Amino acid sequence: MPKVLHTTAEMRAWRNGVSHVSVGFVPTMGALHAGHADLLRRMRRECDQLVLSIFVNPAQFGPQEDLTKYPRTLESDMEAARECGVDAVFFPTPEQMYPPGYSTYVEEQALTPRLCGEFRPGHFRGVTTVVLKLFNLVRPHAAYFGLKDAQQFFVLHKRARDLDLGVSVEGVPTVREADGLALSSRNVYLSGQERAIAPAIYETLQGAARHIESGAPVPATLAESRARLELQGFKVQYLECLSLPDFQTPQPGPGPGPGKPLLIATAAYLGATRLIDNIILWPERLEELGIKIHR
Ligand code: PAF
Repeated sequence: MPKVLHTTAEMRAWRNGVSHVSVGFVPTMGALHAGHADLLRRMRRECDQLVLSIFVNPAQFGPQEDLTKYPRTLESDMEAARECGVDAVFFPTPEQMYPPGYSTYVEEQALTPRLCGEFRPGHFRGVTTVVLKLFNLVRPHAAYFGLKDAQQFFVLHKRARDLDLGVSVEGVPTVREADGLALSSRNVYLSGQERAIAPAIYETLQGAARHIESGAPVPATLAESRARLELQGFKVQYLECLSLPDFQTPQPGPGPGPGKPLLIATAAYLGATRLIDNIILWPERLEELGIKIHR
């Protein structure tokens, strides 16, 4: 069984005991699914010691969001950690991470106002802060993040670079159900009927990606895709196409053409459940910019 570390002191002590080996890190909020298992298994092959953190981070939830309702499945998470060969699970309490009087936050300012950041004020400040704290405690050589939360990955990659953290922040492709729905801890909230409609989100993104790849104008393609989703019952919060890694709106005119990495991303509600998904076009160009995306 992996070693379970409950306090920041225990985490530091464990880390001090593995000082001459490579440490891989997968931060999560628990409710582990096959997407998390994929991150852990990939990292297992790349490092000597593998750390998983499970922490439902209050700082990244807005007042109207699902912090208390967020699924907590510690027993099955521990079983998944064991199966994936995790050496240590860091499972702190909110009081350990944010003791009374806590008042320090870090903020990335260029990428976070876009996409989810526009609709979830403070969310990325909470993410960048907690992941910096976790990096300081775990002191990993590398950390893997799923690309379902592509904005989160690019923000955390930039923050690691901007702050010279010396941690290799790498993106791992989204794991999907057979019908294309991206795995997410929040999928459990979907009713049977919503679950049947949900794969349309990825189908629509794929359609938009094909059009943009073949040179169709971006705004018209996005408008058509948005209408298609709304017709099927989604309430679309955003559907955007931005250049990578700088999150700029592509210039108007015919499609940008091959070679320019682009992110097509959406957030849409099905009933009360907010789903996000995305597609990256021409991801191989990111590698040339020193951004590691696994295949
Ligand atoms: O993606 C998540 O599960 C969370 O945002 C993270 C990166 C663990 C930070 O709390």
